[in-house]
Amino acid sequence: MSAHEKGFFTEENSVEVVTGRNSEASDERLKQVMEVMTRKLHEAVKEIEPTQDEWMQAIQFLTRTGQMCNEWRQEFILLSDVLGVSMLVDAINNRKPSGASESTVLGPFHVEGAPELEMGANICLDAKGEDMFIQGRILDTAGHPIANAVIDVWQANDEGFYDVQQQGIQPDFNLRGVFRTDADGRYWFRAVKPKFYPIPDDGPVGQLLGQLGRHPYRPAHLHYIIKADGFETLVTHIFDPDDPYINSDAVFGVKESLLAEFRWTHAPDRALSYDFKGDFWDVEHDFVLARIAEKRGSS
Ligand code: BEZ
Ligand code: FE
Repeated sequence: MSAHEKGFFTEENSVEVVTGRNSEASDERLKQVMEVMTRKLHEAVKEIEPTQDEWMQAIQFLTRTGQMCNEWRQEFILLSDVLGVSMLVDAINNRKPSGASESTVLGPFHVEGAPELEMGANICLDAKGEDMFIQGRILDTAGHPIANAVIDVWQANDEGFYDVQQQGIQPDFNLRGVFRTDADGRYWFRAVKPKFYPIPDDGPVGQLLGQLGRHPYRPAHLHYIIKADGFETLVTHIFDPDDPYINSDAVFGVKESLLAEFRWTHAPDRALSYDFKGDFWDVEHDFVLARIAEKRGSS
């Protein structure tokens, strides 16, 4: 028996026998990952003590999850989202210096190549929903404006669907746009107030949520990707704090600092200049970008 062979497999020595077998792996990181995964997985199985039937149900669940995936649908990411793993990976990889804006999940509905629009443009192309004016500044952690930052925004429509979920029903690039900040780091555009919506729940992940007594909804939000030379890219949202699902986001994406203020506003002159029908939602939210290599707590 060579050094990496730890004897015959038993319930007691299961972890050592399996991880020992990996001791000659050429990739140290893979070896480490598999050591941790094996240890945690065996621990879970020993605690749960599944029946053969239950283990087969788990295998079939994962099989259905894989079978649901195609070019447009990634059921494993959805599984990672509802287990809180996506937010955990995001948190570990986006530890920000103090004062920088926090990140949250990207989600599956970002589209590369949305049109770059003039500041102030209305991204709502289907004329549905309540008008919203949204503005703010992009700043560094010292409070200086960042000019020429690129802001990619997207949101669901008034019925809770993204354009890509309703091709042929919504206009292409409805509620999407790319803007560039001016010399003062300012951005502003027009849209409609977003609504809460369910994550895609017609597959095994939706079934799992149902069995766990959980709803599939995400509270109303607007997605942002903000890029500027010399700064870490920020992938984030702003949320409506008054949304009924604000405390129970199906994918755990809400953070206190991402709650924006949505003010219902009566300002006829402004409404006229924005080409709005009447009263509108007014939102102002600044974002602070971290410089590349600026570490948490070092600002
Ligand atoms: C979204 O916000 O677009 C989203 C995020 C995670 C899962 C599904 C949708
Ligand atoms: Fe979304």
